[in-house]
Amino acid sequence: MKKIRVNLDRRSNLSYDIFIENDILDRIGLLIAKKNVARRYIVISDSNVSSIYGEKFLEILRGVNLPADLIEFPAGEASKNIDTVSSIVRKLIEMGADRSSALVALGGGVTGDVTGFVASIYMRSIPYIQVPTSLLAQVDSSIGGKTGIDLPEGKNLLGTFFQPKMVFTDLKFLETLPDDEFNNGLAEIIKCGVIDDVELFHLLEREGEAIKNRNPDILETIVERTCRIKGGIVEIDEKDAGIRRILNFGHTLGHAIETASGYTISHGNAVSVGMIATARISEKLNYLSTGERNMIEKLIENTGLLNKIPESIETADIISGMKTDKKKKGDSIHFVLLKKLGVPFSNGSVEKRLIRETIEGLR
Ligand SMILES: NC(=O)c1ccc[n+]([C@@H]2O[C@H](COP(=O)([O-])OP(=O)(O)OC[C@H]3O[C@@H](n4cnc5c(N)ncnc54)[C@H](O)[C@@H]3O)[C@@H](O)[C@H]2O)c1
Ligand SMILES: [Zn+2]
Repeated sequence: MKKIRVNLDRRSNLSYDIFIENDILDRIGLLIAKKNVARRYIVISDSNVSSIYGEKFLEILRGVNLPADLIEFPAGEASKNIDTVSSIVRKLIEMGADRSSALVALGGGVTGDVTGFVASIYMRSIPYIQVPTSLLAQVDSSIGGKTGIDLPEGKNLLGTFFQPKMVFTDLKFLETLPDDEFNNGLAEIIKCGVIDDVELFHLLEREGEAIKNRNPDILETIVERTCRIKGGIVEIDEKDAGIRRILNFGHTLGHAIETASGYTISHGNAVSVGMIATARISEKLNYLSTGERNMIEKLIENTGLLNKIPESIETADIISGMKTDKKKKGDSIHFVLLKKLGVPFSNGSVEKRLIRETIEGLR
């Protein structure tokens, strides 16, 4: 089993391990029991994941004599709100969960974000464990301790930084993950290749077919490499004050496209075309070579992710959805740009004129 340690600065008791392998469910129980995180475990899971894995997971914990219960909420981003938090909290109280209890987030990013948030505020915080079941959760949201929920005013507006005690990434979960969800995770993996790991980038180029077929060995390799990148960045910049911003590569435009589409375009697709646009901007500003820009576009296209901006989304709506750079009188937008593959820089300021032109060029 692969183990990645996330070391958090000077507070070793907050550091934790990410365990990665195919088919580790049977061993998870023992590892949790050994770590002795809590006396009692409450598994939080969405309706989809719970119906496939909920009971099995409870058996695994109970099998090693750990008292375990399950709380389920309706699947989907629409559940990532204060009502779900308050309903989970009420159930926890009803069950008599106290500070000797721990939560287990069994699911995708929504489950992880909501569970981490509840754990950070329930009785002034109780421990939690991440068991990410979507590819996006395995390579992105389960690492780094950002928790939170959406408000009607916007996504992720209410949240905390709260690190899990352990993360268990079992690639076997991916067997039941729908294709669109799988692609959301792939986009973040490509992003990590582009900003940090040229070898990973080439691996993705070479192994496209095996990845599409969800070959567990290749998945294990790319998930592990991506987790190392994200874990490494979080170690240096836990609270998102500096280098962690490079993880936003492709996201400035990506988020704006996602929002302007009324969320009909998935996060992974929006970020993918956002990465292409950002590579083009980096090329136009004479940072990135045409050859490398082309390689990025090819990889995204071959992976089957979105590489054009649909006509139905207005350029003006995309631009107005991005935060302007206050220091530059509102004519520029802050971007993470690329000098070359594997070398991003986060203080790029890009004029709206150039962004507009790039969006139009991607129709
Ligand atoms: N905390 C962070 O650092 C961070 C980072 C990135 C994204 N996020 C958040 O993560 C969320 C997106 O995560 P997501 O894409 O995992 O969404 P999700 O949790 O909604 O999962 C996507 C869908 O896949 C289903 N699913 C998950 N695992 C499955 C499996 N193994 N088999 C079958 N179905 C399965 C879920 O039920 C859901 O319908 C967003 O809310 C986003 O804001 C957080
Ligand atoms: Zn993302």
